[in-house]
Amino acid sequence: MNKMRLVLILLAGAIGVFVLIQFIPFGHNRTNPPVVSEPQWSSPESRSLVKERCFQCHSNETEWTWYSNIAPGSWLIAYDVIEGRSKFNFSDWQNNPEDLDEMIEVIQEGEMPPIQYWIVHPSARMNAQQKQDLINALESSLSNKTEFTLGIVR
Ligand code: HEC
Repeated sequence: MNKMRLVLILLAGAIGVFVLIQFIPFGHNRTNPPVVSEPQWSSPESRSLVKERCFQCHSNETEWTWYSNIAPGSWLIAYDVIEGRSKFNFSDWQNNPEDLDEMIEVIQEGEMPPIQYWIVHPSARMNAQQKQDLINALESSLSNKTEFTLGIVR
């Protein structure tokens, strides 16, 4: 009986902590600022390939799913979006672009999209062919565009 009581107290404590952390404001700001400028996509297909794998954290078109409302998951998602957008932003491309070679590298090495993303979005996980298709989409959209490439070189 004593053991049962202890389990119940611990459970109530855990539920209490879970409820309390929902009030911590970090992660409550789930906004999508306006789209300012995008790369000149070589085709709608190129855009959708990139959108499916990269827009969640590197654009202002983040999908704020139901579980993004619940701490502590919401903290992880908010952190990724803040960090991702600050590195570069497909929705503010002229002001905040990224180097094409850098993108190719993280895709080839499987660093992006990061594991926490493709675990919940399995379709974002890529085999070698899909990686190549994504790289081609980025390459055809981002190279030879003088207007933007000038801004890309850092
Ligand atoms: C789940 C969120 C998320 C997704 C999806 C995502 N990224 Fe990132 N990305 C981040 C975060 C967070 C950082 C900054 C921290 C880091 O470097 O790990 C980052 C950093 C980067 C960097 C800079 C790396 C460096 O070392 O400075 C590049 C390039 C990049 N991402 C490319 C991509 C590409 C290309 C895609 C799509 C294939 C993508 N990311 C998808 C979250 C994401």
